[in-house]
Amino acid sequence: MDGLENPFPEGFRTQLTQTGRQYTKAPRFVNPPVYRGSTVLYPDMAQRRAGMSRRLEQALVYGTMGSETHFALEDAVAEIEGGSRCQIVSTGLAAITTALLAYLKAGDHCLVPDSCYEPTRSFCDKLLTRLGVSTTYYPPASDEAGVGDLFRPNTTVLFTESPGSHTFEMQDLPALARAAHARGAKVLMDNTWGLGFFQPFRHGVDVSIQALTKYAGGHSDLLLGAIITDNEGDWDRVRTASLLIGQYASPDDCWLALRGLRTLAVRLERHMRSGLEVARWLAGRPEVHQVLHPALPGAPGHEIWKRDFSGACGLFGVVFKPDYSVEATHAFVEALQLFGIGASWGGYESLALPTTGFVSRKVKGVLSQGPMVRLHIGLEDTADLIADLERGLCALRNHRD
Ligand SMILES: Cc1ncc(COP(=O)(O)O)c(C=O)c1O
Repeated sequence: MDGLENPFPEGFRTQLTQTGRQYTKAPRFVNPPVYRGSTVLYPDMAQRRAGMSRRLEQALVYGTMGSETHFALEDAVAEIEGGSRCQIVSTGLAAITTALLAYLKAGDHCLVPDSCYEPTRSFCDKLLTRLGVSTTYYPPASDEAGVGDLFRPNTTVLFTESPGSHTFEMQDLPALARAAHARGAKVLMDNTWGLGFFQPFRHGVDVSIQALTKYAGGHSDLLLGAIITDNEGDWDRVRTASLLIGQYASPDDCWLALRGLRTLAVRLERHMRSGLEVARWLAGRPEVHQVLHPALPGAPGHEIWKRDFSGACGLFGVVFKPDYSVEATHAFVEALQLFGIGASWGGYESLALPTTGFVSRKVKGVLSQGPMVRLHIGLEDTADLIADLERGLCALRNHRD
């Protein structure tokens, strides 16, 4: 017994089988159909006028405002995240940038964790700067007072991501949210890692962001993002920004993502158990300096994970001993036969990606302790994955620069 017998909120598995099905128009089929369309026809001008005023609702107005295929997925994702409304957008990155644009204007200041997903940083540095918004990258492990010191009178957004991309630092969301709310700022969170395991709105988050590309899709064959809110004010902001920017997602991808959600709990549970088994095995290897898996007792951030999260996905980091070179970690991943070398995660298949040299941090922290590789543990047999990793470690040891 590891305390993870039921890693989901109560009723989560049942919820996944029921949610979004009210849009099944031919009720003898189990699933809602795919609605494709741009033009929506109105019987007369009065109804057209009425339609145009319903931009905040789930209403058939024009294709960009969504169809019942979008609404079904939006309902499902809002429910899973514990929010009230959800906006589906084209990618996970689009969800991040749209949410930021919903709350920032020229002259504002934004706080972003140093451990954020790299394209979030690039958006802040390359686009928000041009729009007159400044960003400070704060240490992800900051406490309430520490982050509080970094607020300026014009700070309107505290962005969070926990655990952080590649380096897996956990963030104390309730403490950060107290600091932000005391100063009138909004808390935005990239909660992709925590899907199903972290309830953002119970921990002070105002706007949650999901890259549905990962575990919701689950098969490495679609790109989608979601922005979830829990009150009408935030919904107005997010929905308005999304429509102004022209955000949209293909109904085919929405349908696939909704289908993916039906099996999310069984997949996540398998990813979690296999991930922990592989992480434990790696932690006992002489080549490994540290395993960055928040659910592993003794790993950095474990106490926060235990307090706030009910489970863990299959994505974590491995720091090798500093005597191994970055090139040796390239030999390690190239020797693997079951792990693909590639970006993204959350699919059924395992992936391995060297991180050192590809990720920038202001505070070097864990990045400077040894060369790093990020692993995504898929649905293969763990004995096969471990045998594959043994092969990789052999290549690591034998590599000569
Ligand atoms: C933590 C996190 N957030 C957001 C994204 C972006 O998702 P997408 O690839 O759908 O743009 C990624 C993608 O890898 C990610 O790892």
